[in-house]
Amino acid sequence: MDATPSSLAVTANRPKVTAIAGDGIGPEVMRAVREVLAAAGGAVEWEDAVAGAEAFRKGIHTGAPRDTLDSIARNGVVLKGPLETPVGYGENSANVTLRKMFEMYGNVRPVRELPGVRTPYTGRNIDFVVVRENVEDLYAGIEHMQTPGVAQCLKIITEVGCERIMRLATALAEAEGRRRVTVATKANIMKQTEGMMKRTGEAVLRDHPALAHEHMIVDNCAHQMVIRPEQFDVVVMTNMNGDILSDLAAGLVGGLGIAPSANLGDGCAMFEAVHGSAPQIAGKGVANPTALLLSAVMMLRHIGDFATARRIEHALYVTLEEGKDLTGDIAPPDRGVPTAAYVERIIANLGRESTSVPAREYRPIALKHWPQITWYKAAATRELVGVDVFVESERDPRAIGITLQAAAEGSAFTLKAISSRGTQVWPEAAGHTFLVDHFRARFMFKDAPKGDAVAEITDLLTRIGRQHRWMHLEKLQRFDGADAFTRAQGEG
Ligand code: NAI
Repeated sequence: MDATPSSLAVTANRPKVTAIAGDGIGPEVMRAVREVLAAAGGAVEWEDAVAGAEAFRKGIHTGAPRDTLDSIARNGVVLKGPLETPVGYGENSANVTLRKMFEMYGNVRPVRELPGVRTPYTGRNIDFVVVRENVEDLYAGIEHMQTPGVAQCLKIITEVGCERIMRLATALAEAEGRRRVTVATKANIMKQTEGMMKRTGEAVLRDHPALAHEHMIVDNCAHQMVIRPEQFDVVVMTNMNGDILSDLAAGLVGGLGIAPSANLGDGCAMFEAVHGSAPQIAGKGVANPTALLLSAVMMLRHIGDFATARRIEHALYVTLEEGKDLTGDIAPPDRGVPTAAYVERIIANLGRESTSVPAREYRPIALKHWPQITWYKAAATRELVGVDVFVESERDPRAIGITLQAAAEGSAFTLKAISSRGTQVWPEAAGHTFLVDHFRARFMFKDAPKGDAVAEITDLLTRIGRQHRWMHLEKLQRFDGADAFTRAQGEG
């Protein structure tokens, strides 16, 4: 965590932008947005690139051709239409490929009430930003079937990953003149993983005394977003929680047709609408380009063109306020117009000022630079105190306990507990646990290992393997004197 802070921002003057039109309605909304930017005087030079369905059809299994990756690497800024994840061309999502290849670890989704877009929340002044960690968590996609009927997905959360997203969130809060940061986690249940986001969040926020902050349990955060969304300013979450709650948040202010987003990393920023390729309306010329247009406004601010961003935002808001010539998804019933007419109206309104745009002082985001090294966190002391061995068995816990105790006899370990999906079922059951063929057996070293601990673990596994299938082992460690593992429900 001792990276040298730098003022390196992804805000350098880089007027060249990689444009990926994408699939379905992508080309229509991209054309519309480029027309508005050109009319507004945005000094952007576009470099067109391909990703998504077209790439998959050519047999590129990542969905992103080399030329596209090179263009992104060169320009560092991308405006992207939606990309389909076609069924039958391979398993990869081109979106995930792009995010991961360029380590765009921060997903930023502004949630703001727009004039003229009526929702049950109209008038509540919703104006917050969801900052979602974008590359870790369950989305690392590390999954295994542990038995024919039991699946596992690893939730990988790193301290440096939490620090990166928290530093991004605080930089964003300061750049936008926001005052309050809410870190929403499930740390009450997942003390090590979600707890890491909570602890790291609190540590980072101590460096920003001018920002008020709070921790909120993420389920309550979902509830609060529905009950009183106007209380939020910046909300930071791990990947899956952020994925779900940012969609909820978009729904509060009018939904997919108008929700923009940015994927930010150290050397790359990709701006895109939250919505997908909307195949049902593709090619009909009726898609709403607002979400991509607002994403482009974020992009303009990112590259430092604040004046054009402001011009476009005002023209869009005037258009929405007046309510003439809106696309079908946001117009009154049967009053929707084609995309082209809506765009024409926005262009005609360039230069007009809206009274609805909240006064907000935007400044470039100064992101901390994270050097490309293997991040390593040392511990002053480490102890290996035991192992969890996951076994498959159709027997009952008492019988399994007897066989595992017998297996451990003469080894360096004693059997401490057996649990089923996190609840102790041996030596005493913590409750009326429904049993499946997947048990975690916790073995502790009788004495601190002095010799070859690996040989002792291997010996234990050989003994267990004579009676049971085992599929997974975790070391139980203590770092700097603290347990680096949790206890099962009911475990003493
Ligand atoms: P979708 O967002 O494409 O469509 C959901 C609903 O919203 C549909 O009724 C659609 O007509 C409407 N809608 C979406 N954008 C609109 C717009 N700009 N104007 C008017 N109406 C709009 O979600 P869906 O159907 O789940 O996904 C379709 C495809 O898009 C899938 O292949 C999916 O993988 C992909 N997708 C890509 C994303 C990306 O590139 N970031 C994000 C979400 C989905």
